[in-house]
Amino acid sequence: PDSITVGELANRMSEKAADLVKSLFKMGMMVTVNQAIDQDTAELLVTEFGHNIKRVSESDIDIDTAADVDADATLTARPPVVTIMGHVDHGKTSLLDAIRGENVVSGEAGGITQHIGAYQVKLPSGDRVTFLDTPGHEAFSEMRARGANVTDIVVLVVAADDGLRPQTVEAINHTKAAGVPMIVAINKIDKPEARAQRVREELLQHEIVVEELGGDVQDVEVSALQKTNLDGLLEAIALQAEILELRANPDRAAEGTVIEAKLDKGRGPLATVLVERGTLRVGDIFVVGAASGRVRAMIDDHGRQVKEAGPAMPVEVLGLGAVPSAGDKLTVVENEARAREVAEYRQTVLDRKRTTAAPMSLEHMFANKA
Ligand code: GTP
Ligand code: MG
Repeated sequence: PDSITVGELANRMSEKAADLVKSLFKMGMMVTVNQAIDQDTAELLVTEFGHNIKRVSESDIDIDTAADVDADATLTARPPVVTIMGHVDHGKTSLLDAIRGENVVSGEAGGITQHIGAYQVKLPSGDRVTFLDTPGHEAFSEMRARGANVTDIVVLVVAADDGLRPQTVEAINHTKAAGVPMIVAINKIDKPEARAQRVREELLQHEIVVEELGGDVQDVEVSALQKTNLDGLLEAIALQAEILELRANPDRAAEGTVIEAKLDKGRGPLATVLVERGTLRVGDIFVVGAASGRVRAMIDDHGRQVKEAGPAMPVEVLGLGAVPSAGDKLTVVENEARAREVAEYRQTVLDRKRTTAAPMSLEHMFANKA
């Protein structure tokens, strides 16, 4: 077809529809998620998001939308990617630890478990959920500003004895700007001073109407300390994920996003990468940011070496040419020549962006508001 809706294109690009709408807005087009755009515009968007650059001749680099978009039949269900946000000390880490403790196969938890900033848990149903370990709000908005919106669902943690606090409001604003659905976890309900109802009422002031008050935002009372109702929270996540119908093509060259990266003295540059589509394998040649590399080894969130990682799986990748930045895209390419070409292209795009940056982008407006 000559046209595609923004929503469908977003789905096939594994990007957030809200991000596409924002990009279109920046290009001067007011389009909603359900509206169709023509092929030229779609191609522009694909370029904008740094997707598949197809070489058509020795000197030319062009964009092939059709080749980049995954056909519907190739898409299969994938786990949701969940980020936990909330005010300092409201129990984000405790909640993550509690969930993980409940789910990590016993025996592995004996101190060797490695923190890689992201991990996956398996629900009793067999479904998996990927949790991103609380990136600071700065990191979240920075990644979003760079079009690297990897989060499908935000769990907003609010301590029932403390209520909404400045960083809670900040998290609400970031979540709204990102267009990501939210689940409210009212934590610390074991405390005698806990006032869960007050939390729900305070949320109303930010136009968040929870189910308990007749709205459609799921709210769950939990205690991370006493491990109360963690099932309820996981169920809420599973339900939300079902509504989102998250899908990706596992059978293609992998694409992912860097969650965090560092330079390790012994092992060189390391990056925690969340695979978004395709399957990343040991030996794969890739471009990340404006550098290239080859997967030397991959380590999962239990510190085990793995040979491959599919959609929504977070892995630590060894074999990078340089330390990338959080939010950088990792793209597997067929060979080293191609890797250099894409890396060069990305550098050119980066340079161009630097010289033609818009004075006031929508992202800036959101950033100022938040
Ligand atoms: P930052 O990472 O500093 O933003 O904090 P956080 O949101 O990760 O909170 P954290 O999990 O570190 O918990 C803060 C404090 O609250 C700790 O002393 C926890 O033991 C306590 N806490 C967390 N959850 C609960 C809960 O459900 N009940 C009670 N009573 N205390 C809790
Ligand atoms: Mg914490």
